[in-house]
Amino acid sequence: MNVNTRPIEIFDFSVESNDMQKEVLIGLSKSQKSIPPKYLYDEKGSLIFEKICQLPEYYPTRSEHEILKTNAKEMATLIGSDALIIEPGSGSGDKIRHLLKVLKNPKGYIPIEISREILLRMTEELHEEFPDLNTIPVCADFTLDLELPLSVDAYSGKKVVFFPGSTIGNLNPSDAVQLLKKFGKMTGHGGAVLIGVDLKKDHQYFEKAYDDSQGITAAFNLNLLERINRELDASFDLKKFTHQAYYNEVLGRVEMHLVSNIAQLVRVNQTTFRFREGETIHTENSYKYSVEEFCELASKARLEIKKHWQDKKNMFCIYYFEKE
Ligand code: TRP
Repeated sequence: MNVNTRPIEIFDFSVESNDMQKEVLIGLSKSQKSIPPKYLYDEKGSLIFEKICQLPEYYPTRSEHEILKTNAKEMATLIGSDALIIEPGSGSGDKIRHLLKVLKNPKGYIPIEISREILLRMTEELHEEFPDLNTIPVCADFTLDLELPLSVDAYSGKKVVFFPGSTIGNLNPSDAVQLLKKFGKMTGHGGAVLIGVDLKKDHQYFEKAYDDSQGITAAFNLNLLERINRELDASFDLKKFTHQAYYNEVLGRVEMHLVSNIAQLVRVNQTTFRFREGETIHTENSYKYSVEEFCELASKARLEIKKHWQDKKNMFCIYYFEKE
């Protein structure tokens, strides 16, 4: 049978909307209101995020593509033949293509993605582009204790977790260590983690990258409220909130907030929340690391640095670690 005509089977470990309601209510009850960032990525959010990645001001995507393009061969040599590649939060799958083109006889590619629509589309595209590649799509929230299809656990060859996009920076450092440990467990001894992480630099670059002139990032952040209105029966008035992004130098992170323009009451399902004028909902952090800082962090998860690459302007870094 032609692989292209085979229906796509998705392994489904996705969250219930019940969990979303619980997590949103808990987040909005805190003194610093917050909402878990993974809820930014519904279908519309994921599409807006793809637009962010194409913005002139959003340098991480372009810098990372440059590093991948320039060094894919060397990465493939380090990875070796017959590897199984796992990509948590695979999105549109643009970045893995650089590697899939040069990898020697990969045993399979496992994209893990919270948005089912995005996952389906990228799997279809990969089937067309790489008809011989065994793609095993998994719909799941990789921040939870996630299961992989049994065939993956049973695979005795080398496993490599690919985690681009500086997504690790969206966790606080101790959670980042926990996630890296999870990756190490997934790959097992002798496995590897290939991970893209944004570098520390002048705050001006961050402020432009996270608050672009076209307002795309603002629309991405505000879409969270629209989603909550729709899925949790809430009453956010999007005109009464403003996107805000700034670099917190002390903590080494960009913070994204939604600022309440006025004092107001907002209902989420049966619960009413009071907002003061200027009060914020914290929606996302993006931690930035120097090479030394990130290698130090990874060593806490028993990942040993083998090689790292930067783009020409030294904006971004990709690291290749092996599990001790
Ligand atoms: N991993 C991306 C980053 O930290 C996520 C991101 C980019 C993001 N732009 C954003 C998250 C705007 C929230 C809002 O760079």
